[in-house]
Amino acid sequence: MNNEEIYYPSEEVIQQANVKEYDKLYQYSIEEREAFWAEQAEKLEWYKKWDKVLDDSNKPFYEWYRGAETNIIHNAIDRHLGTPTQNKLAYIWEGEDGEIKTYSYHALNREVSIFANILKAMGVKKGDIVTIYMPQLPEQIFAMLACAKIGAAHSVVYGGFSSEALLDRIKAAKSRVVITADGGYRRGKPTHLKKIVNEALEMCSVVEVVITVKRTGEAVEMQNDRDFWFHDLKALPIANGKCETVHMKSTDMLFLLYTSGSTGKPKGLVHTHGGYSVYTATTMRMVFDIKPEDRFWCAADPGWITGHSYIVYGPLINGATIFSYEGAPNHPYPDRWWRMVEKFGISILYTSPTAIRGLMRFGESWVEKHDISSLRLLGSVGEPINPEAWKWYYKHVGKEKCPIMDTWWQTETGGFMIAPLPITPLKPGSATKPFFGNEMAVVNDKGEKVATGEQGNLVIKAPWPGMAATVHNDDERFVETYWKRFEKQGFYSAGDAARKDEDGYFWIIGRTDDVIKVSGYRLGTAEIESAIVSHPSVAEAAAIALPHDLKGNAIHGFVILKHGLVASAELEIQIKNHVAKMMGPIAKPESITFVDALPKTRSGKIMRRVLKARALGEDEGDLSTLAD
Ligand code: PRX
Repeated sequence: MNNEEIYYPSEEVIQQANVKEYDKLYQYSIEEREAFWAEQAEKLEWYKKWDKVLDDSNKPFYEWYRGAETNIIHNAIDRHLGTPTQNKLAYIWEGEDGEIKTYSYHALNREVSIFANILKAMGVKKGDIVTIYMPQLPEQIFAMLACAKIGAAHSVVYGGFSSEALLDRIKAAKSRVVITADGGYRRGKPTHLKKIVNEALEMCSVVEVVITVKRTGEAVEMQNDRDFWFHDLKALPIANGKCETVHMKSTDMLFLLYTSGSTGKPKGLVHTHGGYSVYTATTMRMVFDIKPEDRFWCAADPGWITGHSYIVYGPLINGATIFSYEGAPNHPYPDRWWRMVEKFGISILYTSPTAIRGLMRFGESWVEKHDISSLRLLGSVGEPINPEAWKWYYKHVGKEKCPIMDTWWQTETGGFMIAPLPITPLKPGSATKPFFGNEMAVVNDKGEKVATGEQGNLVIKAPWPGMAATVHNDDERFVETYWKRFEKQGFYSAGDAARKDEDGYFWIIGRTDDVIKVSGYRLGTAEIESAIVSHPSVAEAAAIALPHDLKGNAIHGFVILKHGLVASAELEIQIKNHVAKMMGPIAKPESITFVDALPKTRSGKIMRRVLKARALGEDEGDLSTLAD
């Protein structure tokens, strides 16, 4: 390879790796895609095997493992019972206040069964969608697993979202049942989730039951006919006893996860039991090289796809021990993470570039206070990792012996699409090569492959088992968003710009659509703009992303005030806070600029790229479509 900087894996890493060779297996996985995915599926247990691995008769609604019956819980929990895995630790949790809870697979099954029995008693049935809005508590994971166990789908809404965002998602999913907590701890202070749920429910009549887990003990308002404390329900006889895992079709919905798109309201991506089980299990085993003795810490929130696939499902299917932490990384001191890695002997740590940059800012002396030699692999996800952060992570956290798995994927893909294996030579900032079975390409707007090294649109050329089945209740939007752009070629359009170098390594540049990644969180400009415009002083607004040292990108708003109103610093603060309240603190704009006009096309579409170029002092490009 003729490239700048390459980091080769050590002999020791290669010796241990679950997969020791890439090229031949990749070739095979492309040429014999169905055979490859059948072999991977054989490693799991099925109630009934498939009659066809991939049914592509109704593109792009691909069906994986058609005719098969399974339930992800069978592979994540049930099949470990009665084996030596039963009594090993499945899950370790640490609260921000230092409280520790541990669960063996046996105990995990017990807790999930209790939760599932309660949900059944509350009338939750196969096919229902339950909304989960919780801080990072063990019950958040138990609730997800309990839904899956009884064939209900979970819709987890990130606990940092506002009541408005929560309300939208509850209404769209038509959830009868919502699971929440009184709150959690963040930087030593309680958060108030139940209060936010109450606010959301004032504006919504679909919810009949709210189950609240007690964490902080702060006073919360409970409504007689609707609200139940989880611990009260747990004490009832109905909570006890064995709970059967419901048989599901491979293609039945496992969960729904809302994510931001380029237009309008967030869309609920639907993932299914069969394909998603195989994909998360396989990527976990091959990329993160998971072994039964590993202690795997994915430091995402279960409210995002990363948490679904790699806190919960992927590691549990592989019988590993997962770890999760409730609170802020720098509480009470910036060595909190390293303290926990040392305390629990974490062997694989998976996090985001924003988190790495945040910890890097405090300096390596905080890392060096701790013996973190248990680490053997590191991971990164959510946004491109800048080489400086990559090298810091590699040197100070990985001590130059832990390869970094920079994994490119999306809510829609269910699992890693481009990612190294532990044996892959690494280039800082590149997610390296496609995972097995995946054909990825960089194409121009006509769908033609661009030259090596040239920037273009990242596309996926063939189906994979982890792919979302559709957008909930909106097949048309699924087609429109992902498959229309390169319809002729049948490519999935990822919405990212990328380039591929002479060694076949992919370099992700960023989003090409109106999605903004802030600290790795995915937000849509349309949602941000409608939040800004809902402020009583605002007539029109545009939102763009500009580079930010820590967050990767930050949101900048441009606002036209209503007639007769005067811009002021106070109004700027008001609007920023208003957006944070409407959407959640992650969406708070970095700046608001008051303007008299916004650049628009003749058809009235805001030309955000012009605003961006102007803000960055760059060439504004082709302005021929500009209205005036
Ligand atoms: O732009 C890419 C970026 O995150 C987007 C997907 O966001 P989301 O659905 O929230 O899922 C994030 C976690 C899987 C992608 O379109 N992205 C994700 N991983 C990487 C990345 N950009 C660069 N490098 C990555 N490793």
